Amino acid sequence: MKAAIILGRLAVLGAAATRRATGANNATNDAAEQLLQESMNWMDMFYDAEAGYLYDLDSKALLHDTRSSAWYAAGLLGRNEGDDAEQAAKIVDNIIAGQHKNLSAQWYGDYQIYPEEPTVGTPQYPPKIYNSWDPNWRGFIGTTFILMLEEFPELIPHDTQTRMLESLYNATVGDSYRVGGVDDDNLYPSYSNPAIMRAFMSGWVGRKLNESNMTTAGENYARDLVNLFDRASTLSEFNSGTYAGVSLYALTLWAKYLPASSLMGERGADMVSKTWVILGQLYNANLKNVAGPWDRSYGYDMNRYLSILALHIWTIVGKEDAPINAKPYTMGHKNDFAIGPLVAILAPFHNTLVPNATLSALQTFPGTHNVSTSAFSPPWDTYPRNITAWLSPNLTIGAETFAEDVIGGPAKNPSSFNPAVVQWSRKDGSVGWLTLHAEVEELNAVASEGKLELEYPQGNATSTFTFLVGTNSRAGKRDVAEWSDVEGVKIGINGTVDPGYSVQFSGLVGGAGKMINEFELWNFTYGMPQNSSETPRVVLSFELE
Ligand SMILES: *[C@@H]1O[C@H](CO)[C@@H](O)[C@H](O)[C@H]1NC(C)=O
Ligand SMILES: *[C@@H]1O[C@H](CO)[C@@H](O)[C@H](O)[C@H]1NC(C)=O
Ligand SMILES: *[C@@H]1O[C@H](CO)[C@@H](O)[C@H](O)[C@H]1NC(C)=O
Ligand SMILES: *[C@@H]1O[C@H](CO)[C@@H](O)[C@H](O)[C@H]1NC(C)=O
Ligand SMILES: *[C@@H]1O[C@H](CO)[C@@H](O)[C@H](O)[C@H]1NC(C)=O
Ligand SMILES: *[C@@H]1O[C@H](CO)[C@@H](O)[C@H](O)[C@H]1NC(C)=O
Ligand SMILES: *[C@@H]1O[C@H](CO)[C@@H](O)[C@H](O)[C@H]1NC(C)=O
Ligand SMILES: *[C@@H]1O[C@H](CO)[C@@H](O)[C@H](O)[C@H]1NC(C)=O
Ligand SMILES: *[C@@H]1O[C@H](CO)[C@@H](O)[C@H](O)[C@H]1NC(C)=O
Ligand SMILES: *[C@@H]1O[C@H](CO)[C@@H](O)[C@H](O)[C@H]1NC(C)=O
Ligand SMILES: *[C@@H]1O[C@H](CO)[C@@H](O)[C@H](O)[C@H]1NC(C)=O
Ligand SMILES: *[C@@H]1O[C@H](CO)[C@@H](O)[C@H](O)[C@H]1NC(C)=O
Repeated sequence: MKAAIILGRLAVLGAAATRRATGANNATNDAAEQLLQESMNWMDMFYDAEAGYLYDLDSKALLHDTRSSAWYAAGLLGRNEGDDAEQAAKIVDNIIAGQHKNLSAQWYGDYQIYPEEPTVGTPQYPPKIYNSWDPNWRGFIGTTFILMLEEFPELIPHDTQTRMLESLYNATVGDSYRVGGVDDDNLYPSYSNPAIMRAFMSGWVGRKLNESNMTTAGENYARDLVNLFDRASTLSEFNSGTYAGVSLYALTLWAKYLPASSLMGERGADMVSKTWVILGQLYNANLKNVAGPWDRSYGYDMNRYLSILALHIWTIVGKEDAPINAKPYTMGHKNDFAIGPLVAILAPFHNTLVPNATLSALQTFPGTHNVSTSAFSPPWDTYPRNITAWLSPNLTIGAETFAEDVIGGPAKNPSSFNPAVVQWSRKDGSVGWLTLHAEVEELNAVASEGKLELEYPQGNATSTFTFLVGTNSRAGKRDVAEWSDVEGVKIGINGTVDPGYSVQFSGLVGGAGKMINEFELWNFTYGMPQNSSETPRVVLSFELE
């Protein structure tokens, strides 16, 4: 079993690995190996050996996909059975051949979204950031190349390694074109996940190729990021099931592959630990969910959408106890399963950085408690977002107060920005949820015992509060027309809103609205009394049924 070789490297990882006694590490090894194998078995089904690319994981009429191919290539080296290593080199060479090579283009050094795409920047295929090209793919694919070079140099042909370094050099130069606020780009140090990858790639490539400017640029960017983090020991992109997982991955690269003389090497491990401290406080092991608020979420119940954070949790507590379905590829946002190999390969190191209190909280809910912290995302935030959460065994409430110059958080995406969230456990063990749909630039939101208080300080008589509520359990009522139809919880409402409310369904094939993040939902909407001059305010109270 070749996977055992890489995970067996644990034995030679040195100081970091010996930080934690053997028990947890053995469990980590088994769980990480299982994650590697399961994610690879799934991707094997999509591999087109003739092309040397993975087919698109959503089956787009035989188109291929670049980023998941890179992640698969890393997994091939981790597994290293049969001709795995040969296929990995083939994939890598393909990806590099398709890397954008026009030095004056904004997308220089970036990697294609898919190999069949037209040339970006032609009249017929205009450059559209995050569409026809994705600036974050330099970081996603570049860091994957670095991980491959660090972990498996003996499995990569020498000439491929040379091309990888050249490709990384180009990607780093291209990434330096990114300046938040310029040319539609949004990379500020507060855009945590790509910012951490940028600093790392620049620092690593600079050291590797003796490009001191790159090394310095990486360190400087890291310093901005670290300063932002140290304000409250939180990532700006706070508590995102998907992107906290990416940030933890990238911070692990800081800790594992950069020397202590680098700020990143110095601080990476500490930042991984501190990120886990707050995640541990917000985690409810009964519900297997991290309580809100979620700055960027691709779902409302971690048991039903695949979050990268859940892949880390899998390696820490095992698949059974993690928020992951037995068949991960049936979950919402399933394609992120493709990053499984990277999480698995880093787990023996990364998991030594998880604090004991968090390790315990990931397994057993420690009892009712409050959480209070803050996160700051300049330039969007006027002041740091105040975060409050109340967690009890079967009911959690989390919210954040903010004033931003955008609606839907820095990503300007009301579907992923969830500033006030409630989750509860139902009789069959499934999870009910409620989230405030993001409609305003300013919100006062406070979570406390059984209560969620919301206010739009800049609102007026036209304001509405829309609560998106998950569908009932499979055995529960199919139809919902009022609050009392919502399973598992009694909800009371107070405030300056008009007490009358509308209820709509957003379903798979019908209803008034469309599903959001692959979740069906009920839309409870409140308006203000006509001509009201009061500040829009609503207080929800929750009691388990
Ligand atoms: C961990 O694994 C090693 C090697 O398989 C074994 O010798 C050791 O007893 C295990 N430790 C624990 C705590 O299970
Ligand atoms: C390279 O990109 C620049 C800027 O987008 C463009 O003006 C130029 O035509 C491109 N060159 C080639 C060879 O495509
Ligand atoms: C790197 O970019 C240069 C143009 O600046 C190009 O000539 C070269 O082929 C690129 N290298 C790789 C590996 O793509
Ligand atoms: C970088 O510098 C070191 C020490 O001066 C040297 O050993 C190494 O070969 C250089 N690497 C490259 C890629 O130039
Ligand atoms: C490095 O940065 C300095 C100062 O900004 C600049 O003068 C020099 O040209 C840069 N060197 C390279 C190789 O880019
Ligand atoms: C975590 O617990 C282990 C085993 O009880 C102990 O050796 C270790 O010092 C603890 N680590 C921390 C950071 O408290
Ligand atoms: C949570 O905070 C409130 C006041 O903010 C306090 O009354 C309550 O006792 C706290 N609950 C717990 C479990 O600490
Ligand atoms: C945020 O919380 C801090 C500390 O609890 C408090 O001093 C501050 O007034 C709060 N700010 C807002 C805008 O609620
Ligand atoms: C929480 O829900 C579970 C499952 O329905 C139930 O067994 C347990 O008694 C509940 N705990 C509390 C404290 O309500
Ligand atoms: C009420 O708020 C909306 C949304 O911010 C705004 O467009 C509208 O002009 C406001 N109306 C009044 C009367 O202030
Ligand atoms: C609503 O407010 C009234 C008056 O403050 C209070 O008596 C009542 O308990 C509140 N109801 C809920 C559901 O919070
Ligand atoms: C929710 O329902 C309201 C009232 O019908 C509607 O205006 C709004 O667009 C709906 N929002 C979503 C996210 O479906």
